[in-house]
Amino acid sequence: MKPIRLAIWGSGSGSNAQSIIDYFARNSEVSVSLILSDQSDAYILKRAAQADIPAYYMRESERKSPEWLIGLMSAHEIDLIALAGYMRMVSPVFLQRFQGPVLNIHPALLPAYGGKGLFGHRVHEAVISNKEKASGITIHRVNERYDEGEIIFQQQLIIEPGWSAEKLGEEVLKLEHFWYPRIIEKIAKNLPVNL
Ligand code: GRF
Repeated sequence: MKPIRLAIWGSGSGSNAQSIIDYFARNSEVSVSLILSDQSDAYILKRAAQADIPAYYMRESERKSPEWLIGLMSAHEIDLIALAGYMRMVSPVFLQRFQGPVLNIHPALLPAYGGKGLFGHRVHEAVISNKEKASGITIHRVNERYDEGEIIFQQQLIIEPGWSAEKLGEEVLKLEHFWYPRIIEKIAKNLPVNL
């Protein structure tokens, strides 16, 4: 059977992209078929080259054009999209027109610690400075507002006394790397995800 074709969109280091690439390298049902970045020097593009996956740097005019994006997804026969550290809003027109699921991962338990301006290290700094007892990860569908799409999966992480924002970030990233490929696989195959 033809593999389900996944595109990953990112803006930075792409450590989640790497865990997804590695996971699906052992699985013939899903293929990482395209990597897109809005940053020309993002490390995620180097990871794509190392893994021999077609990759594309999209200019501002391109990422703002739903027609261009739909054309690129169609040319690569993309069935679903996983945002992994993608720092831009996805065009609402594109979201209406793209047929498959579009997922994102966020390094906290949404709806807490989400929304515009709460990304990357800032999330962990806010969690630690508020003396929260737990944080975690959220995998959700993407809609026209930052971090507000339907939640598909969450995993909690207990914060141990004395943890810095940096330590929390490292522990959250381990959870992301474990869970994101597995949840993508469930969504790709239309299987239930048990929350
Ligand atoms: C992750 O923490 C993810 O939750 C957030 O951005 C970060 C991306 O890191 N959306 P990487 O580029 O996958 O290393």
